[in-house]
Amino acid sequence: MRKDDRRSNRIKAIAAWAFVIIMPIVFLTAKPDPVVVPTIDNATFLSGRHVFRANVCRACHYLKGADPVADANPRYRPEYLYGPDLTHEGSRNPEIGWQKLNLTKHDMLFPNGSMGDQSRLMTKAEINDLAAYMASRK
Ligand code: HEC
Repeated sequence: MRKDDRRSNRIKAIAAWAFVIIMPIVFLTAKPDPVVVPTIDNATFLSGRHVFRANVCRACHYLKGADPVADANPRYRPEYLYGPDLTHEGSRNPEIGWQKLNLTKHDMLFPNGSMGDQSRLMTKAEINDLAAYMASRK
């Protein structure tokens, strides 16, 4: 055996042992992916809240902290309003896809509902932001 061959065999052996030793460590220390909790970034939060205010959702819904006009006037409370309280909407309907449908195809989700399509005057981006905002209201 030539000297070079012996050296390359030794390198291979070291590599093989390193693999055998390191792999169990990798397996044992690998943690499962953390549960992904959908969060909302600040820009989406502000935009979604703005769309909520601008489309006067307060006419039918209370959502604590969403609309200063509603928060300042005790007449804008669920007991006086037509629609459900949305303060914890994200706990009831946490999926953004559902929230989008609720705005764009409301009658599909609530065939006998009275809210109707609220998204005709919204851009796609506004619908996305509002839906994410709704889903984030835990
Ligand atoms: C004319 C009154 C009215 C307006 C305006 C209105 N909603 Fe509604 N909304 C309702 C009613 C009533 C329901 C219950 C389902 C139904 O009857 O259609 C509802 C249901 C919802 C739900 C589902 C609640 C749940 O957990 O079941 C969400 C979310 C919602 N509305 C968001 C909005 C947003 C956001 C806006 C503003 C863009 C808005 N709504 C504007 C009346 C209204």
